[in-house]
Order: sequence, then C-alpha cells, then structure tokens
Amino acid sequence: MTSFKPNAWVLPQPVLIIGTYNADGTPNAMNAAWGGHWDKTQIVISMGIHATTENLAISPDFTVSFATTDTVVASDFVGIVSAKNDPQKMAKTGWTAVPAEHVNAPVFIDFPMTLECRLVQKYEESESGYCLVADIVNILCDEQYLAADGKPDVEKMKIITFDPVHMGYIELGERVGNAFADGKKLK
Ligand SMILES: Cc1cc2nc3c(=O)[nH]c(=O)nc-3n(C[C@H](O)[C@H](O)[C@H](O)COP(=O)(O)O)c2cc1C
Repeated sequence: MTSFKPNAWVLPQPVLIIGTYNADGTPNAMNAAWGGHWDKTQIVISMGIHATTENLAISPDFTVSFATTDTVVASDFVGIVSAKNDPQKMAKTGWTAVPAEHVNAPVFIDFPMTLECRLVQKYEESESGYCLVADIVNILCDEQYLAADGKPDVEKMKIITFDPVHMGYIELGERVGNAFADGKKLK
C-alpha cells in the first residue's frame, strides 16, 4: 500500500449542477462535488462564495441536477466561470431552463433528473462560505429515463462522477449487484 497525505478524495464524488435565479431573474448554474445526503429528504452541500451564494441569499430555493456524459463540457464550464464575470455564461451552455414546479428556481431540461430544493439551515458560516442543508421538495425525472417499474433508471442516464485525484469526470458503469440482497449470500 502507498500512503498519501489527507486530501478530498472520498470516492465516488457527485457532479451536482445547482440552479438558481440571479437577482434579475435570469437562470444561473454552478458545479458542486462536495455534497450528498444529510437525511432521507435533505441534502448537504459545501457552498463557497459565488454568484449562486448571492442568489441563495435572495431566495433559498434551488435545483440540483446530476451531470451526464452528454452535458460534461458545459457542466465543467459552469464550475470554472462565474456569472459574476460572464453575463453570457448560461447562453454558452446551450441549456434550456424552465421554471421548477415547486420551488423558485430553474430546471435545466438537458438533465435526466433534478431535485427541487429549499435551503433550511446554514452551518459554519464564514467569509469563505457555509455548509447548507436543504429540503428535497420534489424530484423530477424525464420520462425517457424511467424504468419499467416507473421509477428513475439510473443506468439509462449516463451520470458522471468527479475524480478528484486526476481531475476527471467518469461515467457510471453497469449494475454489478443487488443492494441489501447480494450480501445475504455470506450470512
Ligand atoms: C469539479 C468541480 C467541483 C466543484 N465543487 C464545488 C463545491 O462543492 N462547492 C463550491 O462552492 N464550489 C464548487 N465548485 C466551484 C464552482 O462551481 C464555481 O466557483 C462556479 O464558477 C460558481 O459559479 P457562480 O459564481 O456563477 O455561482 C466546483 C467546481 C468544479 C469544476
């Protein structure tokens, strides 16, 4: 085994696309890898100081989409360019925004699945940001990505994960097991 110093290397990491409205009502998006579940119907995201942070100070509502192979270039772009510096940021992505059904935030229909969220708590707030906890108010899934049982089919979505070791994006692969089931073979 080779040792490395402590790093942000929890694997796999998500590629979350956070959608908010700017003060003028136009949509914005940013990329976040440091996020996950807080509770069954709540998520947690480590939020720095961005245009998105300013938008959340105006309205606590936002959306979270899961980036895909088909959206990888623009998903990275919204993670390296701020709406503060480029008024054409969202136009350059080519994404189509529609109003969310349950929250005051944009849904980018270029993504298979989107969480509609509302910020409910900020932890460890400082000048460099905070850790947010948000309610999942609703979940939207494009019908073409539903499985036969009517639930979202993750395997169809070509979702990507962030590789923080080599700064890459990796597409999820095939299903290799059955959760809460395969392990029973060793009982
Ligand atoms: C792969 C990747 C992961 C990122 N993860 C986070 C994150 O977890 N939290 C965060 O605050 N910023 C994160 N960022 C940075 C923001 O996405 C970036 O600063 C973005 O330009 C902010 O856009 P805005 O100012 O228009 O809101 C990440 C960027 C990339 C490329």
